[in-house]
Amino acid sequence: MMRNFAWLCRAVVLLGISVVATSQAQTKAAPALIGFDPSTKVFRINAADTTLVMGINESGQVQTLYWGEHLSAKDHFAVAKAMPGASSFDLPVTTTPQEFVAWGGGLFVEPDLKITFPDGNRDLVLKYVSHTIDANRLSIVMKDISREVYVTLQYEADAETGILRRSAVVENRTEAPFTIEQIAAGTWNLPRGTDYRLRYLTGRWAGEWSLQEQPVNPGKVVLESRRGTTGAQNNPWFAIDRSGSADQDEGGVWFGALGWSGSWQISVEQDALQQVRITGGPNAFDFGYLLKKGERFQTPCFYGGYSAHGIGGASRLLHRFEVNSLLPHHPDSKLRPVLYNSWEATGFDVDEAGQMSLAEKAAKIGVERFVMDDGWFGQRKNDHAGLGDWYVNPQKFPHGLKPLIDKVHSLKMDFGLWVEPEMVNPDSDLYRKHPDWVLEFPGRPHTEARHQLVLNLARPDVRAYVYGFLDKLLKENDISFLKWDYNRNWSEPGWPAVPQEQEKNVYIDFIRNYYSILDELRHEHPKVEIESCSGGGSRVDLGVMQYTDEVWPSDNTDAYDRLLIQNGFTYAYTPATMMAWVTDSPNWVNNRALSLEYRFLSSMQGSLGIGANLNQWKPEDFATARQMVERYKSIRETVQRGALYRLLTPEHNSEQSITETVSRDGDQAVVFAFLHSSQENYPFPRIFLRGLDEGATYSISAFAGKLAEGTPTQASGSYWEHHGIDVDLHGDFQAMAFTLKRSR
Ligand code: DGJ
Repeated sequence: MMRNFAWLCRAVVLLGISVVATSQAQTKAAPALIGFDPSTKVFRINAADTTLVMGINESGQVQTLYWGEHLSAKDHFAVAKAMPGASSFDLPVTTTPQEFVAWGGGLFVEPDLKITFPDGNRDLVLKYVSHTIDANRLSIVMKDISREVYVTLQYEADAETGILRRSAVVENRTEAPFTIEQIAAGTWNLPRGTDYRLRYLTGRWAGEWSLQEQPVNPGKVVLESRRGTTGAQNNPWFAIDRSGSADQDEGGVWFGALGWSGSWQISVEQDALQQVRITGGPNAFDFGYLLKKGERFQTPCFYGGYSAHGIGGASRLLHRFEVNSLLPHHPDSKLRPVLYNSWEATGFDVDEAGQMSLAEKAAKIGVERFVMDDGWFGQRKNDHAGLGDWYVNPQKFPHGLKPLIDKVHSLKMDFGLWVEPEMVNPDSDLYRKHPDWVLEFPGRPHTEARHQLVLNLARPDVRAYVYGFLDKLLKENDISFLKWDYNRNWSEPGWPAVPQEQEKNVYIDFIRNYYSILDELRHEHPKVEIESCSGGGSRVDLGVMQYTDEVWPSDNTDAYDRLLIQNGFTYAYTPATMMAWVTDSPNWVNNRALSLEYRFLSSMQGSLGIGANLNQWKPEDFATARQMVERYKSIRETVQRGALYRLLTPEHNSEQSITETVSRDGDQAVVFAFLHSSQENYPFPRIFLRGLDEGATYSISAFAGKLAEGTPTQASGSYWEHHGIDVDLHGDFQAMAFTLKRSR
């Protein structure tokens, strides 16, 4: 569906509040409303089912008055009044929930901004100056009480999901540079309470996306990465509910995610008055950004939303927001093609004949994109050498990439290629020529990981080199897709080429250059799609997702482990971006043997790929694969764009897991059911669907495995939701899938 997202503005007056309304052409969403009542100095942002209310209090602070479920326009908010101090130890600046507070005047909760000035002063007290409302955007300008430091708080409301995009801009209008030592996009303040539960995602290589839960207690929890990149150990996403009040589809959930692919932190803090605040931005550890006279610093975006429909509702809002308002080409991004990737089949041993032969086999099963992974460039025989030397290896590809690409095209697939642009092996021509291009502290050892070092992308010459070789590669070859990898984290993050006081700018400038390269490449090569991979899911966040069409969630391709990994991933990110390969059995991760059908059904819950060694497949494997790929194509739009319901999660060692996705038009529902192990002859749990039109009639059809005998072929939405469906699953590692089709 083509949609024009031009914002239409109109000013209306609502109950004495001047309001600017926005609407999205051809969307059903009510417009977002942003209003300001000059008599009370109260701002109100209403978007979808969410309301945020803020007031300017007597101290000139921007104080949060409410954030949560949509409130009636009739609900009146009085002038904001700062909270009393809790004692002489916790003054009002600390106890008042503020949207953005600087470190100064006796603040002890997490600051949004801390600055050191050249004269040694480190006190900063911001007060409201002015604001502007422009359609769905609100900007509030604040200024220090004496110095020419300005901060603009920016809010952008998404009418469809109610998700707010926040960011802050610091402006140095003083006569000298100063150092930003800590900065956040802003703080989300929850209604006061002691019964909150925090959910967040943790992981490690080959074990990303574990959902954690814990009560929000007095004190502070910090989710973070100090790695120079997003990291898998924590992902920059959170969800908070009142303990026990929200499950998959019921109850209120506040959620948010940071759009930043560098070191980051999100702190969740319960203060002395039992208020909970969530502050997010670049990590304060080892941070220091030198902002010169006249310069502005814009923080990464911190997104936040509220769902009254449980944690499942929260993720459905995020999915919709990502697809409709964030990913490249939104809201008209293409469905993900079925992809083949060579990595698990051939490793570094890629060559023209071998890849052509795999491509022929991939084409037979309906693959639409053939991707050659690592090993095609420089002197790359293994991971010891070659990174940085981005010329086609002449022994492996004596005629360049063209013959392979032509072959792939002749098989009606497009061609993709692996790159790892920000890295260098010391054993490479690039490093021999430019040893000073890496992150380093002079005179200190270079710590290698996977035999590689990190190029300092903050350097203009490195940025130019990286952009230059990628641009050349894409100009000289008909490439439709880049898998952009990043296989280690930072060490020795020094930048000796710049003055010492500017060295820590690397934490920001590196990521800005990374984004700007992606942006420029997309602009110059509009047909090229990009996957963000970092040895698996170590660089997945709402920042990189603005520039990449899909992500690689994990190197772990064991189809059973993947159920848990994919389940965790979808709390924050849409299955539309979740690349999932069908690989060989037994799988290298756990040596677990799984049927090909099971492996397909696990991968079909995201963006389907195949990474198996097709040279070892039997004719019956090709037949199964061909059938599954064809079926995937018939449900792909539902899986990638629809509303996901976790009917039974694989968390807590569950013996079963079930997902259901309902298409946007409501005409199709797709259900995947997995059984880890049968016990004592108990039947598989009955499946109660959600999100259907209760009055409509749906026909059911299994496309893998069997429905229980006696299942009607047609029934109402109400029947499928309340009577439920039994399926015939017994044994270990069994899987089945079915669709429902609404009758018109
Ligand atoms: C790590 C990635 O996650 C893998 O899929 C593969 O591309 C290798 N790197 C190649 O070195």
